Amino acid sequence: MSPDMKKTAQKFVIANWKMHGNFEQNQALLNAYVSKLNGLKDTQVVVCVPYPYLAQAQSLLQGTDIAWGAQNLAKNENGPFTGEVSAQMLRDFGCEYVILGHSERATAYCESDENIAQKFMVAKQHGITPILCVGETLIEREAGVMELKVGKQLDTIIDLYGADVFNDAIVSYEPIWAIGTGLAASPEQAKAMHKFIFDKLTQANGAQKNSVKILYGGSVNPQNALQLFAVENIDGGLIGKCSLSAQEFEGICQAAESSVG
Ligand code: 13P
Repeated sequence: MSPDMKKTAQKFVIANWKMHGNFEQNQALLNAYVSKLNGLKDTQVVVCVPYPYLAQAQSLLQGTDIAWGAQNLAKNENGPFTGEVSAQMLRDFGCEYVILGHSERATAYCESDENIAQKFMVAKQHGITPILCVGETLIEREAGVMELKVGKQLDTIIDLYGADVFNDAIVSYEPIWAIGTGLAASPEQAKAMHKFIFDKLTQANGAQKNSVKILYGGSVNPQNALQLFAVENIDGGLIGKCSLSAQEFEGICQAAESSVG
């Protein structure tokens, strides 16, 4: 897949390694990704690694169809922000994608929607595709306020910067109750929320079809991937645990590929 085709890939499957791996394991996993997944026609594969392994990802993946990214970035350009990593630093390692607002960060590091919105803009300004995570807790779903929650997460960005900023961006619906639990959203639950997100972004964008991609994340595995990826407005998946196994990740990517067309 050439760089231009990446933008038009119909499905995206994105690995979120979270805080897993070491130099040796990563090498084996990335090499296996390349041997199994290079050359997919309709699916863009991306792997978001911990910061220290960006150089390793770059050296093993450049020249292949697989792109790499990070799991966070700083909202500031540079300065006295100990422990932070800027967008420009990510660009130095060929990073094309960044996960933002993952619930594991939002909860543990008290990231506000406004903070995440600022990072979203910084990523765009540096030509890095933001992968914005949105989703509700189990309590919010049981209370029936899941659309309110996700709506607010999107509105924070729309109100600050306009809906256009979602063009060529990625939103990942990740119900918090489905992350790492083995209990994925049902196709019906996912369908309803993906329609809500799609309609909201399309309406906010003056009813023009937005070129945003909307992924589903939360306990995707090779068994449920095909059914989920066949749902309207699901453009692929953001994968945690199963991205750590080349075989399972390949199964998910092949499901994405066969869900197209
Ligand atoms: P799991 O696939 O392990 O449920 O994780 C999903 C996730 O958090 C992706 O960002």
